[in-house]
Amino acid sequence: MIDLHCHILPGVDDGPKNLDESLEMVRIFTEAGYRQVVATPHQVPGTTWMLSTGEIRNHLTELNQAINIKGLELDVLPGMEISFDPSIPDLLENGQLLTLGKTSYVLIETPFQQLPLGWEQVVFAILAKGYFILLGHPERCAQLAVSPRQVERLIESGVYLQINWDSFLGYHGRAALRMARYLADNGHIHCLATDSHNPQERHAAHVRLAAAKIEKLMGSENLQRIAIENPLRILRNTHPLPMMTPDPKIDVKKASKWRFW
Ligand SMILES: [Fe+2]
Repeated sequence: MIDLHCHILPGVDDGPKNLDESLEMVRIFTEAGYRQVVATPHQVPGTTWMLSTGEIRNHLTELNQAINIKGLELDVLPGMEISFDPSIPDLLENGQLLTLGKTSYVLIETPFQQLPLGWEQVVFAILAKGYFILLGHPERCAQLAVSPRQVERLIESGVYLQINWDSFLGYHGRAALRMARYLADNGHIHCLATDSHNPQERHAAHVRLAAAKIEKLMGSENLQRIAIENPLRILRNTHPLPMMTPDPKIDVKKASKWRFW
């Protein structure tokens, strides 16, 4: 499996504090069946959480070397989780941001309260430069939670949506759980990611538990699409496929005859 969103570089944001914690996360990822993850440290323009691309690549090299020395099998690729900020198009143009695994996809963090004013222009400017947008955890945004139909405007504007696995377990509160279910019911999820931050509470070991719940909501084919196929498609720089729209006449729970987890 591939994880497109995790905080695994040591000491650069609110992720692991040191290399030992990073390596423990690596071990949890490999035990959960992952072979590739994209390191996506927070990048908040105008703050200390704004590393240069070179600094991130150096951290990445050190972590991958440590993984090899330990004999673990996980490939950590370059990336960033960028705050939804009007400066993104210029920063991209100046080469100051990393895309996901050298693709044309930028991972943008959905604000927890509300989308920035004029978000449509920011999205348009990014797309116009030839990039694609993967929006991280929109289910955790308070504004979208009270008006979920705004999500459709986001998708219509060309944005792809990444939902956190553990939102389906209620780890981010009831509103995020309700929103995750709404997005699942309406076929609005393009991919799932762990958004792992540390080896104690937010990590890949929750994926199996969440997968069982998500499979009941949308069936195994859709789960396979958003958990495995679409992350791979994104890493290959092709478009993720939409979820198959639920047919109200079909009982998904009964229709899911086989399990792949
Ligand atoms: Fe994140």
